[in-house]
Amino acid sequence: MGLLIKNARIIDVTQDFHGDIYIENGLIKEIASKIEKDGVEILDCHGKTIMPSFIDTHTHFRDPGLTWKEDIETGSRAALRGGYTGVCTMANTNPICSTKETLDYVRNKSKELDLIDIHQCPSVTKNFDGVTLSHLEELKDDKGVKALSDDGVGVSNSNTMLEAMKIAKENNWIIMSHAESPEFSKVDMRIAENMMTMRDVELAKLSGARLHMCHVSTKEAIKYIIDAKMSGANVTLEVTPHHIGLTRDVNDYRVNPPIREKEDVEAIINAIKLGMVDTIGTDHAPHTLEEKKKGSPGMVGLETAFAICYTNLVKKNNISLNTLSKLMSYNPANLLGMNKGKISVGVEGDLVLVDTDTKIKVSSSEFASKGKNTPFEGMEFYGDILVTVKGGVIKYKK
Ligand code: DOR
Repeated sequence: MGLLIKNARIIDVTQDFHGDIYIENGLIKEIASKIEKDGVEILDCHGKTIMPSFIDTHTHFRDPGLTWKEDIETGSRAALRGGYTGVCTMANTNPICSTKETLDYVRNKSKELDLIDIHQCPSVTKNFDGVTLSHLEELKDDKGVKALSDDGVGVSNSNTMLEAMKIAKENNWIIMSHAESPEFSKVDMRIAENMMTMRDVELAKLSGARLHMCHVSTKEAIKYIIDAKMSGANVTLEVTPHHIGLTRDVNDYRVNPPIREKEDVEAIINAIKLGMVDTIGTDHAPHTLEEKKKGSPGMVGLETAFAICYTNLVKKNNISLNTLSKLMSYNPANLLGMNKGKISVGVEGDLVLVDTDTKIKVSSSEFASKGKNTPFEGMEFYGDILVTVKGGVIKYKK
């Protein structure tokens, strides 16, 4: 059956108008100021805003092996509750995702659940050992692989990273870099990020590989990546909601990379205004509260990302909702090769209905995620997720 979306403010990367959208067989079939149909399901939006659903370029679902923190089902439900229908999951599971077997485990489970689309990243180095690349041979014929990452630790050996980039280039894979130099991480986390950013950008220039810099957080790294982009380097820049929404003096919640200074947040926002940021990735990193007490880095992010970004970027910094849609939907979908992220005929009918006027109070007890580890507990933001639609099917309704 088709789904007719009526009376919506329709926003995507380039559009902003009032109208209706009709989805049939999973794809957007018609867009017009008024559409009438008999015998179809109707979602009346009462003038609220419909956007392409969000796609997260950076998520940790902890499945296989660490499922007391999160599993594919709870992670997918958290994604839907946050307006996401696609995520790119990182490889730091147990086992580390270095084999086709683990990739297939995630894919099959996600297919069975039929909640969201998951692109599972295989690791750059085998089992995150930092040097072995032989497992990549097995993945060469796997058309589902789009990006590799050792996120959580990074690849410390420069020559290994160069070799990995050469293989990635041959196979048209993206290298997603967690920029943290282990030599400096105990000394100074700013230098740790900056040094690795410079190295990976230089290696990408040398190898010609597609490089995606994850969770960029310092003003120096931002500047370095912008300069590289201006000189034609094949690099994309991801920022997180928490590095936009928090500063260290107010809330130094433990996460890697750490919460930074006011000037770093300003650098991120300026880079967004300059059109130099490509994606917002949540770095959704569920841990139990016990684990957090013992120092595990990271926070959950899928269920708060839109509200934090809408409030801080659109409300406070006059960035357009079109730009936010570009960072949360259009660019991530392009990066991951998904037929989503914009509202146009023939694109998958993955949409999110948001209420931009109502304030919400973050309450982790309401999260669909197993992880309740958020520094935003009790804080108020504009931007409520009302309905998430995937392929014309309502998968979440508040
Ligand atoms: O704080 C973090 N937590 N940063 C990462 O890169 C990994 C993540 C995790 O997996 O817990």
